[in-house]
Amino acid sequence: MGRKFFVGGNWKMNGDKESIDKIIDFLKAGPLDPNCDVVVGVPAPYLMYCRERLPENVGVAAQNCHKAAKGAFTGEIAAAMIKDCGCKWVILGHSERRNVFGETDELIGEKVAFALENGLHIIPCIGEKLEEREAGKTEEVCFKQLKAIADKVSDWSRVVLAYEPVWAIGTGKTATPEQAQETHAALRKWLSENVSRKIKRSETEVAENLRILYGGSVTAANCKELAKCADIDGSLVGGASLKPEFVEIINASQ
Ligand code: 13P
Repeated sequence: MGRKFFVGGNWKMNGDKESIDKIIDFLKAGPLDPNCDVVVGVPAPYLMYCRERLPENVGVAAQNCHKAAKGAFTGEIAAAMIKDCGCKWVILGHSERRNVFGETDELIGEKVAFALENGLHIIPCIGEKLEEREAGKTEEVCFKQLKAIADKVSDWSRVVLAYEPVWAIGTGKTATPEQAQETHAALRKWLSENVSRKIKRSETEVAENLRILYGGSVTAANCKELAKCADIDGSLVGGASLKPEFVEIINASQ
């Protein structure tokens, strides 16, 4: 059983109705590979706008959500609000949430637990910084971030993991297919040793079934080489997801 290819677009804090309409137009025109799941992470004010206009085969994600149902949390959005806007997905623990807004492994774990309990599909993100890679700590850092997430997952069928090395995000410095594959394989091994065995049911082998996306300066020019790697099941795309080349990235495994 192969893992279905998956491409996410993370628009980050970009776009207005005019530019979003253009993205919607190229996603509608496609054609999009029917063997690829597509989800776009849109700024919260546009969740409903995008859901109402995008075709059904393009999922819509929020880029964050809080760990509580509702209440006095100025500036936060709730899982129920995302669903009420017709959306099923949320990106959690993105490196910008971690490194710009100070989100900890613990908080991200709590958000993972809450979003899954409330019926959302999640794209949790992990990845090492440049100094951590240079210090030979890539696996140590990624496993620690992954453990904080894995400990809180109640339903792996609603999880798509993203590995995004921080040094590759928005820098134009993509990990080589070899670098990415090496880390993806290590993550899958960690999952098989720490999660699949714990569940002890072969049909729910988490490590074999979980899709692991690579993110960090993915473009139409490098997506095909990345897609060929055995443990890379798609990509999470920032800048290039705002441009028509995103369609080529979606179709990278064809
Ligand atoms: P870029 O593709 O712009 O490097 O961003 C990657 C990313 O952070 C996706 O979540």
